[in-house]
Amino acid sequence: MCGIVGYVGKKQAAPILLDGLSRLEYRGYDSAGMAVYDGEKIVINKTTGRLKVLSELTHDGATMSGHIGIGHTRWATHGEPSDVNAHPHFNKDQSIAVVQNGIIENYLKLRNLLQDRGYQFLSETDTEVVVHLLDYYYNRYDKNPLTAVTKVIHRVEGSYALGILFADHPDVMYAVRKDAPLIVGIGEEGNLIASDVPAVLKYTRDVFFIENEEIAVLTEKSIEFFNMDADPIRKESKHIDWDINAAEKGGYEHFMLKEIYEQPKAVRDTISPRIRDHSIVIEELGMTDEEIRAVKKIHIAACGSAYHTGVTSKYVFEGLARIPVEVDLASEFRYRDPILEEGALVIVISQSGETADSLAALRLAKDRGITTLGIVNVVGSSIAREADKVMYTWAGPEIAVATTKAYSCQLVAQYLLALKFAQVRGQITDEQLGEYLHEMEILPNQIESLIDNKHKIQKFANRYVAAKDVFFIGRGIDYAISLEGSLKLKEISYIHSEAYAAGELKHGTISLIEDGTLVAAVVTQEELYKKTISNIVEVRSRGAYVLAVTNEDNIEIEKTADCVIYIPKTSSYFTNSLAIIPLQIFGYYVSVGKGLDVDKPRNLAKSVTVE
Ligand code: F6R
Repeated sequence: MCGIVGYVGKKQAAPILLDGLSRLEYRGYDSAGMAVYDGEKIVINKTTGRLKVLSELTHDGATMSGHIGIGHTRWATHGEPSDVNAHPHFNKDQSIAVVQNGIIENYLKLRNLLQDRGYQFLSETDTEVVVHLLDYYYNRYDKNPLTAVTKVIHRVEGSYALGILFADHPDVMYAVRKDAPLIVGIGEEGNLIASDVPAVLKYTRDVFFIENEEIAVLTEKSIEFFNMDADPIRKESKHIDWDINAAEKGGYEHFMLKEIYEQPKAVRDTISPRIRDHSIVIEELGMTDEEIRAVKKIHIAACGSAYHTGVTSKYVFEGLARIPVEVDLASEFRYRDPILEEGALVIVISQSGETADSLAALRLAKDRGITTLGIVNVVGSSIAREADKVMYTWAGPEIAVATTKAYSCQLVAQYLLALKFAQVRGQITDEQLGEYLHEMEILPNQIESLIDNKHKIQKFANRYVAAKDVFFIGRGIDYAISLEGSLKLKEISYIHSEAYAAGELKHGTISLIEDGTLVAAVVTQEELYKKTISNIVEVRSRGAYVLAVTNEDNIEIEKTADCVIYIPKTSSYFTNSLAIIPLQIFGYYVSVGKGLDVDKPRNLAKSVTVE
C-alpha cells in the first residue's frame, strides 16, 4: 500500500503534489518522492523518511518548477526503504517516470527478461520493471505512450495503480490501475490523479473512479479514458460530499473499521502471490528444502496479538508438519534462558518489526547461533533487517492501535509456512496440499461475507456496552481465538475480559460466573464440540449468557447457546481466520457504543519500542 498523486494544469505542480501526499500519508510513510517536468526534462527528487523530509529537500516544492508532476509516499514491499527504492523511478534515459502502488507479482520473471535485453536495474523494487517495460514498448511501437501502457498492462500480473510521465509528451499524464485504488479529480485549473479522494478534495469534489484495467489520459483541459485495448470509453463523474476527515478514513468512522473491511484484500495479498502452480513459493524467505528438512524444533516468540497468532500456529505446525513448537511471549522468552538446541528455528512475529521484546528475543536467538525467521509487516524494520530469514505480511500500513488486518495476515502467513514445511518434509501429499490451498484461497471471500453480515453481532454488541466482565472460552485453536477475542474487547472497550482454555474453567474461574455474565464460547474444532458444549452447559447453569461462534454445520449448538454466530466451512486449521472476524466486530461496536476513542485507546501505543 502506497499513495500516489499527479497534477497537470496551470499551477505549479510540486506544492500540489506535496499537499496531496500529506493527505495520503496514512497509506505509507517510509519514503517519498516527486517527478516534475521542468520545461526541458523530467526532474526527480526522492528520499527516505516521512514526507516532511521531501518537503524540506524541495523547500516545500519551490525548487521543482513545472506544471505537470507525479508524487508518491511509499510503504515498502519489494526492497527496503531507501532513497534508491523510493519512487518515482526512471527509465534509462530519464524520459519516462513512474510511480506505483501495488505489487507486481511476476516482476522477477519480467526483470530477468528485461535484463536479458540489456536493461539495468538500480533499485530492488518491482516498480522499476514497469518503467523499463514501458521504455521497451514505447520504443518498439512508434513511441506511442498509450500503446506502451496497454502493452504493459497485458504483461504485468498483480495489483497496481500507476502514474506515468513521458518527457516527449510533456503536457500529458497517464494513469492506470488494477485492484489498487485510483481516482481522477476534475479541477478548475488542472486535473489530478490520486490513490484516494482526500488528496484532491482541496481542488475539486468531482471525481472519476477508475475501474480495473482502465487507462486515464489527462491534460490541463481534458480527461479521456481507454480500455486495455486502447478503445475509448465513457465514464460518469461522481460528486463527493464527505468532509476531509471522513475521506481519509475512506468514509469509515474509524481506521479500525476501515482496517476490518480491508482484511479480505490484505489476506488475499498475503496469500495469492505465494501460491503458484499448486505449490507454495515464498520468494523472500530464501530457505532451501534442505534447511526446512533440518529443522528439529520451532520456537515462536511475539507480543500481544502477534503472540496469539503464534499460539494458533503451534496447533497448525504440529498438526500439519509434525514439528514440535514452543510458543513464548517475547518478554518471557528473553529472560528465561530458553533451551535452544541445534536444529531449532526461532520465529519472531511482529507487525511493526520494532517491538522491543520481540527484537530482544530475536537477538538472543542469533547470539546463540540459532536460525531466526521474522514474520513482519513493515519492510526494512529492525526485525526484518536483523532476522536471518524473513517473510512479509502484505497488510499495508495499520493505523488503528488495535490490530485486525495485520493479525489476519500473520495467521495466513503462518498457515502457508506450515503447509510448506509439511510438504517439504513429506507430511502431506500433493493432493492434500491442493485441498488446503483451495481452502486458503477462498478465505478472503469468506472473511468478506462475515464482515458483510456484521449486523447481528453489531446489535449484540450494543447490548453489552455496560458489561463488567466477559469471559472467552475455547479448546485447542479455539482457545487461541479466545485469547485474541478477549484482547480485542478489553483493549478498546476497557471492559475486563479473560480468555480461558475451556477445560480450565472448573479449576477456578467458574466461581466468577454470575447471573447475566457474558461468556463467548468459540466452538470451531469439530472433535472438541462435545467437550466445549458441556462447558457451555456448566456456565449457563450458573447464570451465564452464552454467545457461541461456531461452524455453519453445528446447528445443534442452538439448543445450548443463547446467541449463535456461524462461520463458513473451512479446514479446522484455518478457523481462526474466520471466527476472529465477529469477535473483532464485537469489540469495535462495544467501544463505539461506549463513545470511546476506538483508534487510540488510552495508555496504548501502536508500536511498543521500549520494555
Ligand atoms: C493488540 C495489538 C498488540 C500488538 C503487539 C505486538 O491489538 O496490536 O497486542 O500485537 O503490541 O506488536 P507488533 O506486532 O508490532 O510486534
